[in-house]
Amino acid sequence: MKAKIDVFTLPIEKQFMRRLIKPDTWILNGFVEDCAAPHPHVVIGSERAAVIDTTDLFYNVREYVEKVITDKPLVTISSHSHGDHTHNNYQFEDCVQYMSQRCWEEIQENRVNMPERSPGSYTATIVGDGDIIDLGDRQLECIKFCGCHSLSSMAYLDTKYGCLFSGDEMEGGQVLIGTSPMERNCVELYRDNLVELKKRVDGRATCICPPHNGSPIDIVMLDYIIENCERILSGVEGIDDVGSMSFLLNPQSYHNPPFTVDDGELANHDARAERFKGCKRSEWMGTSIVYNPARIHYSDLD
Ligand SMILES: [Fe+2]
Repeated sequence: MKAKIDVFTLPIEKQFMRRLIKPDTWILNGFVEDCAAPHPHVVIGSERAAVIDTTDLFYNVREYVEKVITDKPLVTISSHSHGDHTHNNYQFEDCVQYMSQRCWEEIQENRVNMPERSPGSYTATIVGDGDIIDLGDRQLECIKFCGCHSLSSMAYLDTKYGCLFSGDEMEGGQVLIGTSPMERNCVELYRDNLVELKKRVDGRATCICPPHNGSPIDIVMLDYIIENCERILSGVEGIDDVGSMSFLLNPQSYHNPPFTVDDGELANHDARAERFKGCKRSEWMGTSIVYNPARIHYSDLD
């Protein structure tokens, strides 16, 4: 059996793959075994370039972007506070770092409670709904639209090429909503927020660019996610297997014999299975929503 390649020993330009998804718009893939890991996007304007979700890839995202992607001054943009999206912000200490107020508050809380998930001492530049992040000949419109995956979520619409950077509120693998007992949301709220989002971006967005499970996806997926919500609201029940194509939780998954995993992987798997206990997964037209059946309608929140 061949020895594994230690990616850290490779030159920085070999530590990632890059793919052009629109003019001056890249998605980066770091070489990690965890296929559920998020991917940074890089959006380049005439004056500045934005790294959207610096992620928690082990490698030096900034060094790669500066060496391989662009020589424009960099800013970062965070879709929400979760550590797998914001961890590497520390690599951009001297850059402007845009995020929602709630995202900044949660990052500061994480610095106290989970410092390993939120390193660095940078200060955020807060953006609110309707604000414009100006990259020169290219603008990103900030859209506060949901808070069903995370209360800190903010979407960003590239008004030049129609890319909607959605964070984890929309994606092709699975959208996790209402799975935390701390966050009071429901499928009905998620549906209503997406309907409002559709009105707001209609005719202006051509694709959704999520950090997980493939980017870009066609904007028609927004309609399918709304339809998926409608199915749940009308009583169509999801299935018990809440795993996804990038994170298997079914009985045949790798944690059962004859497959073997190391202890860390097993603990991660079990923690995730525990977190989603009682949740359901609803699939429709290539979309997948993981939801809490105790929180479907607004009345369930009373
Ligand atoms: Fe997230």
